[in-house]
Amino acid sequence: MKLVLAATGASGAIYLQRLLDRLDTREHEVHLVFSTYAKQVVHEELGQLVVPEGVRQHGDKTMNVPFVSGSARFDAMVIVPCSMGTLGRIAAGTSDSTILRAADVFLKERRKLLLVPREMPWNLIHARNVVTLMEAGAIVLPASPSFYGGAETLTQIADTVVDRILDQLDLPSPGMFRWKEPTD
Ligand SMILES: Cc1cc2nc3c(=O)[nH]c(=O)nc-3n(C[C@H](O)[C@H](O)[C@H](O)COP(=O)(O)O)c2cc1C
Repeated sequence: MKLVLAATGASGAIYLQRLLDRLDTREHEVHLVFSTYAKQVVHEELGQLVVPEGVRQHGDKTMNVPFVSGSARFDAMVIVPCSMGTLGRIAAGTSDSTILRAADVFLKERRKLLLVPREMPWNLIHARNVVTLMEAGAIVLPASPSFYGGAETLTQIADTVVDRILDQLDLPSPGMFRWKEPTD
């Protein structure tokens, strides 16, 4: 799979870290882009991100990357975490950065675009932008962890969100708690 991961300046750097930890970067071609504010949030929340070998990193001010053109035929883009600022700029069609242009391309090419926003509460502009993006074909997975699977540690809690991202990418998420009928 050819995959673009983008991090923006919303809280939740741990989701990106866990996604990177759990992706098989030898099997998949993984590209990573940070917005300026994403770097600040990573610093505040994690200190440093551990990027697995093989992941290709790019700046957010270049058009010299393959995935800003539909001709490159990537499979999916995940923006995690996704700020409401980036979400709004994608909804408005401003493709003046690598992340925004790539998102624009994934939508126009009808490729999978997953947005993992984190904000609370929402204002009406946030809600309207989410609707616009869903109408355009984006998949919006709010960073809303679940607890019914018994998650306790920060990593387990973050993984309840990352499991859903992996599911949307049709990638394996071994150990994921899946709800089922009681057996007895
Ligand atoms: C520590 C920190 C946490 C933030 N958390 C959020 C957040 O959870 N959601 C959000 O939409 N913006 C959040 N912001 C604000 C965004 O970083 C800001 O709106 C920025 O302009 C987003 O730009 P970007 O989308 O290009 O990264 C946070 C900023 C900082 C410094």
